[in-house]
Amino acid sequence: MFSALISLSAAWNLFIFFHEIDAVPSFTEEPSNPSRVNEGDNITLRWTYDIDGTFRDSTFTWVPTGDTIALKDSSGLTVVPAFSDHVQVIILDSEATLTLLHVNRSDDGDYQYFIRNTNFRSTTSTVNVFVQFKPENVQLSTNATGNQACLGSYLNFTCSVGTHGNPEVYYYQLFRNDTFLGTSSSGEWIRMLSSSGVFTYKCQANNTVGATNSTAVTITVGVKPTVTFKRCPTPVTEGHNATLYCNATGYPVPNFAWINASSGNIESPTKTLVITAITRSQRGIYICHASNEIGNGTQTCEIDVYYRPSSSSITTIPSNYTVLRGSNVSFTCTTDANPPANMYHFYFKGSLLESSSSGMLRW
Ligand SMILES: *[C@@H]1O[C@H](CO)[C@@H](O)[C@H](O)[C@H]1NC(C)=O
Ligand SMILES: *[C@@H]1O[C@H](CO)[C@@H](O)[C@H](O)[C@H]1NC(C)=O
Ligand SMILES: *[C@@H]1O[C@H](CO)[C@@H](O)[C@H](O)[C@H]1NC(C)=O
Ligand SMILES: *[C@@H]1O[C@H](CO)[C@@H](O)[C@H](O)[C@H]1NC(C)=O
Ligand SMILES: *[C@@H]1O[C@H](CO)[C@@H](O)[C@H](O)[C@H]1NC(C)=O
Ligand SMILES: *[C@@H]1O[C@H](CO)[C@@H](O)[C@H](O)[C@H]1NC(C)=O
Ligand SMILES: *[C@@H]1O[C@H](CO)[C@@H](O)[C@H](O)[C@H]1NC(C)=O
Ligand SMILES: *[C@@H]1O[C@H](CO)[C@@H](O)[C@H](O)[C@H]1NC(C)=O
Ligand SMILES: *[C@@H]1O[C@H](CO)[C@@H](O)[C@H](O)[C@H]1NC(C)=O
Ligand SMILES: *[C@@H]1O[C@H](CO)[C@@H](O)[C@H](O)[C@H]1NC(C)=O
Ligand SMILES: *[C@@H]1O[C@H](CO)[C@@H](O)[C@H](O)[C@H]1NC(C)=O
Ligand SMILES: *[C@@H]1O[C@H](CO)[C@@H](O)[C@H](O)[C@H]1NC(C)=O
Repeated sequence: MFSALISLSAAWNLFIFFHEIDAVPSFTEEPSNPSRVNEGDNITLRWTYDIDGTFRDSTFTWVPTGDTIALKDSSGLTVVPAFSDHVQVIILDSEATLTLLHVNRSDDGDYQYFIRNTNFRSTTSTVNVFVQFKPENVQLSTNATGNQACLGSYLNFTCSVGTHGNPEVYYYQLFRNDTFLGTSSSGEWIRMLSSSGVFTYKCQANNTVGATNSTAVTITVGVKPTVTFKRCPTPVTEGHNATLYCNATGYPVPNFAWINASSGNIESPTKTLVITAITRSQRGIYICHASNEIGNGTQTCEIDVYYRPSSSSITTIPSNYTVLRGSNVSFTCTTDANPPANMYHFYFKGSLLESSSSGMLRW
């Protein structure tokens, strides 16, 4: 009987003991997991809980390194100095908040809250903080050599990001002179260049946080010069001025030069070449050369120079000796003329002897 009484009392004590051991703290509210925050903003993580007994101690831990951020126990709340500039901590018996100030991407990771009651029963809650930021160092590149390309050709525009945003890049957009051209999920566009001119291209990479523009790439869409002749005066009479003129289409506006084909010299650096008082030695081919950054175009102009007969001379056959009366003598008259002389006149002592188209006189 006595022993039975003792055992009943022991069982009661045991019951009470086990009841207290089973009193486990539990969270009634936890931050959403993951908790998203834009870089630069503050974020407050809030837990509410039922300590189910008496609060003993609690700890905030930065999981990636295992470092304690803050703890509270009978001696009060302590925020670890390494974190004290960056966090605000409130720990109460039924609620705790951890505020991360001016969050940056190195704050991305898991945060753990641990609470324990005086019966040494504890519970933890881990929350991932997802620090969102825009793509950075966005670059636009093309395969245009020297940032020049021809009208009608195709260019490969590639938008790349140095630092992918968090979350990763969603879309890329291409702009030409601030006008939207198109969206791409790969950041690549093959585009035909449909108008000539100077254009500023840029691309933009965006994610849910925002969009970042690349620096601008300036591309000259050019057209190779095509010479459209205006004037190639030929023939020209010796002593007259010869004015050669050419024009060309093309973009950028072409530069001109008239080149002397026989010497290779540039006779004029403009559209116009004036050969003043042209001489017979200046007849020949002149090349109009129109060039721009894209290429060049040429046309030739062949100038013929007419001049009057000159340095005429007469030869006799047999040459320069005394001939017998009645025998034949032939005279040949030669001259330099362009076009060649077509009539020769033979005079003897001031009176016309005969005219000949061949320049030969048999007498
Ligand atoms: C973050 O919190 C600090 C301290 O409370 C405050 O000064 C600052 O303005 C807050 N920043 C933002 C972006 O809310
Ligand atoms: C992010 O914040 C931490 C803590 O304040 C600081 O040590 C680190 O330099 C910051 N990083 C950047 C990239 O700003
Ligand atoms: C640039 O790349 C595109 C696509 O591959 C190609 O069609 C085009 O000919 C290239 N242009 C130049 C100038 O290399
Ligand atoms: C466009 O350029 C990018 C980067 O150089 C390259 O990876 C891609 O293959 C090119 N696309 C075409 C169609 O040539
Ligand atoms: C990016 O470029 C586009 C097109 O020029 C412009 O509308 C937009 O304002 C720019 N965004 C930023 C952040 O500069
Ligand atoms: C595009 O922009 C460039 C530079 O800002 C300017 O020189 C050019 O005239 C513009 N082109 C057109 C077609 O508007
Ligand atoms: C990102 O680009 C897509 C496609 O153009 C657009 O629908 C979306 O609104 C943009 N988002 C932001 C944040 O700019
Ligand atoms: C030829 O050009 C020269 C120099 O420009 C000028 O003095 C002369 O009058 C011109 N002659 C003719 C026939 O036009
Ligand atoms: C030369 O050609 C250009 C382009 O076709 C044209 O605009 C210009 O009027 C021409 N100039 C002359 C003087 O013919
Ligand atoms: C072109 O070159 C030839 C040969 O050197 C020369 O005789 C001629 O005078 C040149 N033409 C001009 C316009 O100078
Ligand atoms: C003119 O263009 C041709 C190809 O079209 C090139 O071989 C040549 O070097 C160019 N000449 C000059 C003077 O630019
Ligand atoms: C022709 O004869 C004359 C007189 O004898 C002489 O002066 C002249 O040099 C001769 N001419 C030639 C081409 O032999």
